[in-house]
Amino acid sequence: MTAQYEARPAACVAGELTVPGDKSISHRALMLAGIADGRSEIGGFLAGEDCLATLGAMRSLGVSIERPEPDRVFVDGVGLRGLSAPAAALDMGNAGTAIRLFTGLLCAQAFDSTLVGDASLMKRPMERVAQPLRAMGADVRTSGGTPPVRIGGGRRLRGIEHRLPVASAQVKSALLLAGLYAEGATTVTSPAVSRDHSERMLRGFGAAIEVDGLRVRVEPVARLEARRLEVPGDFSSAAFFIVAGLIAADASGLLIRNVGVNPSRTGLLTILRAMGAEIEVSNAREQASEPVADLRVHRSELRGIEVPKAWVPLAIDELPVLFVAAACARGETVVTGAEELRVKESDRIAAMSAGLRAIGVEHTALPDGMRIAGAADTPWHGGVVDSHGDHRVAMSFAVASLRARGPIAIRDVANVATSFPGFVDRARAVGIDVRES
Ligand code: S3P
Repeated sequence: MTAQYEARPAACVAGELTVPGDKSISHRALMLAGIADGRSEIGGFLAGEDCLATLGAMRSLGVSIERPEPDRVFVDGVGLRGLSAPAAALDMGNAGTAIRLFTGLLCAQAFDSTLVGDASLMKRPMERVAQPLRAMGADVRTSGGTPPVRIGGGRRLRGIEHRLPVASAQVKSALLLAGLYAEGATTVTSPAVSRDHSERMLRGFGAAIEVDGLRVRVEPVARLEARRLEVPGDFSSAAFFIVAGLIAADASGLLIRNVGVNPSRTGLLTILRAMGAEIEVSNAREQASEPVADLRVHRSELRGIEVPKAWVPLAIDELPVLFVAAACARGETVVTGAEELRVKESDRIAAMSAGLRAIGVEHTALPDGMRIAGAADTPWHGGVVDSHGDHRVAMSFAVASLRARGPIAIRDVANVATSFPGFVDRARAVGIDVRES
């Protein structure tokens, strides 16, 4: 049988914790360090399966990487043109970020490559990245729009001006990586803000990057420079504990230290505050060109709201756990403009809706979001929930157990290890009664 969680109701959460390193930043750090000149050191690296897939792929491309501790990595960069042909197809596992960014990086190389992944990844849309790369002159073939992605090497790329139809950091980043190798400048304009880790990190490695509002421009460079960087804690992993604290913290609140608070990632804070959440941000500092802070979360009476569509892209990965917070609020919460949830690691609208139904949370799934009736005073019952192999769905229902009357069994949770190794231990340490069986 596949791994599952048993999550039992618990009175409160308390104390403090840290969360593992940021997934988006860890992927990018490995890739850029691999094509830089010299030895880079990455501290706070996320030792989750997604980033380990990127690490394995970089090794298969001829980059030598040492990992003396799970979260400390030394990368001996081979230079922009030093990657070598892999012996076999590169396996990206469950990692959407890895397959999209590698498509951008590899279409600029002298050799052919093929990208594959697990059953979920093999269903994810790839034309959104393949099409603009083809416009740059790349040879990228998908299989009816999904992986395997077959990339022909030895193409001369030319810079383009591209307008993204949907705000996507993965597509933007793929084009920027290809743009490092193109003739002329590559400009990407997004319809709304998406995470800007690539822009920050490319600049840190010495690339010629210009940002003007929603427009990013990269110029080809001769070389990138190795660096040392310390990856901040992943806001998306902290999100589960932010919601846990809001619905169940004891009187002193729950402290989450060392969390990345890049404004292109913290839409959840904006939404929760509009719902009445009390979250203190302290000790603000900069680390690896990224803003970092400590968060103290107080138990709060939440009110349902209509979430402005403009906030949705800034909270896209946190919407599953936002649905749990909304279920604890007074009054209805409505999320729309989130059709991207349909094509994440699972169809997150369908997976969350089925789980919420199983534990008795009143709601309506919408084509592009969810309408959730707040049940501030009525805990829901327990039940059996299927995560559909989606890490964020699984962890959201572990948090939901804090307000349940009976245990919640959560099926198919092995993929929590893609983004949050050690989730169960950290959750138990602050009072969430979840076990793996
Ligand atoms: C990511 C970008 C987002 C996000 C994903 C990580 C990244 O996806 O949902 O979890 O690291 O660039 P999109 O680019 O598809 O919006």
